[in-house]
Amino acid sequence: MPKTISKKKNNTIKLKFDTWQYAPAPESKSAASIKPQYDLFINGEWVKPSGNKYFDTINPATEEKLSEVAEANVADVDKAVSAARRSYEKVWKKMPAKERAKYIFRIARIVQEKARELAIIETLDGGKAIRESRDFDVPTAANHFFYYAGWADKLEYAFPNCATEPLGVAGQIIPWNFPLLMAAWKIAPALATGNTVVLKPAETTSLTALKLAEIIQEADLPPGVVNIITGAGSTGAAIVNHPDINKIAFTGSTDVGKIIQRAIAGTNKKATLELGGKAANIIFEDAPIDQAVEGVVNGIYFNQGHVCCAGSRLYVQESVAKEVIRKLKDRIESLIVGDPMDKNTDIGAINSRQQLETIHKYIKIGEAEGSEMYQSSCSLPAKGFWCRPTLFTNVAQSNRIAQEEIFGPVLAILTFRTDDEVIEKANNSPYGLSAGVWTDKGSKIFNMTKRMRAGVIWANTFNKFDPSSPFGGYKESGYGREGGLHGLLPYLNLNPLSP
Ligand code: NAI
Ligand code: MG
Repeated sequence: MPKTISKKKNNTIKLKFDTWQYAPAPESKSAASIKPQYDLFINGEWVKPSGNKYFDTINPATEEKLSEVAEANVADVDKAVSAARRSYEKVWKKMPAKERAKYIFRIARIVQEKARELAIIETLDGGKAIRESRDFDVPTAANHFFYYAGWADKLEYAFPNCATEPLGVAGQIIPWNFPLLMAAWKIAPALATGNTVVLKPAETTSLTALKLAEIIQEADLPPGVVNIITGAGSTGAAIVNHPDINKIAFTGSTDVGKIIQRAIAGTNKKATLELGGKAANIIFEDAPIDQAVEGVVNGIYFNQGHVCCAGSRLYVQESVAKEVIRKLKDRIESLIVGDPMDKNTDIGAINSRQQLETIHKYIKIGEAEGSEMYQSSCSLPAKGFWCRPTLFTNVAQSNRIAQEEIFGPVLAILTFRTDDEVIEKANNSPYGLSAGVWTDKGSKIFNMTKRMRAGVIWANTFNKFDPSSPFGGYKESGYGREGGLHGLLPYLNLNPLSP
């Protein structure tokens, strides 16, 4: 990297790292086929929405319309739930588990075959950098199908001495930050355990779920086993409130999570809720600083910070704070922000105008609270929704930017002196989804992770996922686990076998 050395007024020397200018390397839109209009996928067929209403889905990087998708109303939800019930009773629950597994394997393989197209559509519809959809979202989605296909005929080994029984029809509502991956997280364990599904993607990112419906058709899954319907909050609410749903799996905001909890109170519906987060990422003075800085960058700027487990609160031990902050500022200056379809891009577009407004609101709050803001000086495209990677220093524990979920590329940096102090600060949050610890000492890792209240804690790394590893939160981050052996449980009734 070329270096520019400039002398500042107070005689300190500032090293500025200029990034290499890469030639554009855009992925091709023509490798993906997007229809001008999508209907609802119910009972293995594409059906028109009964209200005949459609809404646009746009590319947030250009604000151009990509397609229009159907809006499912209460009658459509009822149709989808009835189809799921019929196929549950007549086909899926009776099918030998090893046959079920074959279908799930088939879906996994077609997802792999269509990986390039799925990555392109994910990036066009949601704004995330193609490098991420190509290298993370799509392969991890395929891995989830592979992983749970493997469990389908081994449930008796997963839960020894118990008879397992599926719950029935699962209503699954997913967010816009990892559309295909969240669909895979939810559909794969439901099918492996013998349940049928009605799934609704988020209204800004419906397209890869609809592509998944095409894949499910191609895999010849019996009609009605997976139904994919589109729409906004009211469609989601109709799924939650449908009397014939046995289980709700929801990922999204804590506010909607609370509405769902209230709606199902007093019913027999089971639920798993994956809600917001405000992860503490802790750097001790003995940590490998360069790796930690890279991990922090990955933790908060990955996927534009649209990550429920984003490391959005950074706690740095005072003795190394200056060095860490300087290195972080240099690093964010070198991040490439812009066209998500370019393979060099690090940070793509913010998912929607609404989310961009939320992020800007929090940046203003941070400044008004007296924290110091630093942003990369990169230029932003004229059209579309963009946010420069941002960090705040001099943040107090009580500040709103240290307490509330921003869901954007905005990092709040705080300092600490002792282990006890940082544990208290890290746990002082309504959330408890994930956290990170950076230290050279193994014993410190065990000590910290034991005392931190978070569902997932990464040590000397961040944002690592594997289908075999459970994921889920404490407190207002929700309950239930997805992934791994634990991810099978929320879709099953276990009946102990008599000896
Ligand atoms: P949201 O919670 O409204 O949307 C998530 C999903 O729930 C979407 O499919 C939506 O259509 C559906 N939904 C909305 N209202 C519903 C209702 N009453 N009943 C059933 N389903 C309903 O999230 P939104 O408004 O898109 O984002 C707001 C904030 O939520 C973000 O700024 C972020 O802080 C947080 N969020 C957290 C996510 C996570 O992964 N934990 C994902 C998305 C958002
Ligand atoms: Mg879109």
